Amino acid sequence: MLFKSIATVVALAGLAAAQSKELTHGKAEVNMNDIEATFTFDKVDGGMSIGVTIAKGLTSAIQVLPTGFDYHVHVNPVGPNNNCTATGLHLDPAKVGVAKPCDPTDLTTCQTGDLAGKYGNLMGTADGAIPKATYLDTQLTFTGEGEESMVGRSIVIHNNGTRIACANIDIDGQDAPTPSGGKPEPTKPAGENSAAKLVGSVALTGFVAMMMMAL
Ligand SMILES: *[C@@H]1O[C@H](CO)[C@@H](O)[C@H](O)[C@H]1NC(C)=O
Ligand SMILES: *[C@@H]1O[C@H](CO)[C@@H](O)[C@H](O)[C@H]1NC(C)=O
Repeated sequence: MLFKSIATVVALAGLAAAQSKELTHGKAEVNMNDIEATFTFDKVDGGMSIGVTIAKGLTSAIQVLPTGFDYHVHVNPVGPNNNCTATGLHLDPAKVGVAKPCDPTDLTTCQTGDLAGKYGNLMGTADGAIPKATYLDTQLTFTGEGEESMVGRSIVIHNNGTRIACANIDIDGQDAPTPSGGKPEPTKPAGENSAAKLVGSVALTGFVAMMMMAL
């Protein structure tokens, strides 16, 4: 009976821990070249809620194109010394490419990471700040086996093609991607990490033990 209770406790604790590993919130804090911006990513019913807030830096004075600044999720973390080039290409697991512009009414034409294409460019303002806007995205995900996942990615803001600011997307419950100025790491595969898997198998073992005892 005592063993039975212990098994139950182990099973429930394990299941709770495994469930708490679900990734639901990520954030990129851009702070370079006098540009400060916050991008938030929250898993919600129906997709990913994206929050975009520019605190300073995107002035109409520095804006080159009349169409404003574009911004995307890029595949790699930021390189040492805020190297935005190291972030690589746009997140594009469906291999849409850039040959045709994204038509937001037909998402098959949009790279998953092309946030500007889907939600519009950031238009420079007199003081460089842009109030928070939120969007519901149906393509971005924290989970998946590698390519489609947002784990280990970054955000880059462009001005006439030049990468003027970038930041890693830090996801709660995940090891932080390369800190700015740190050593670049290869993009981590998505999905549960081994600790979550271990906890999961402990939970399963406890659960099986409990069921056997109940028989
Ligand atoms: C930035 O990263 C790119 C790509 O990894 C690399 O080729 C380049 O040399 C880096 N620039 C600096 C200044 O380190
Ligand atoms: C914008 O980018 C194009 C293509 O790289 C370049 O030729 C042009 O000089 C740039 N314009 C400004 C104002 O920097």
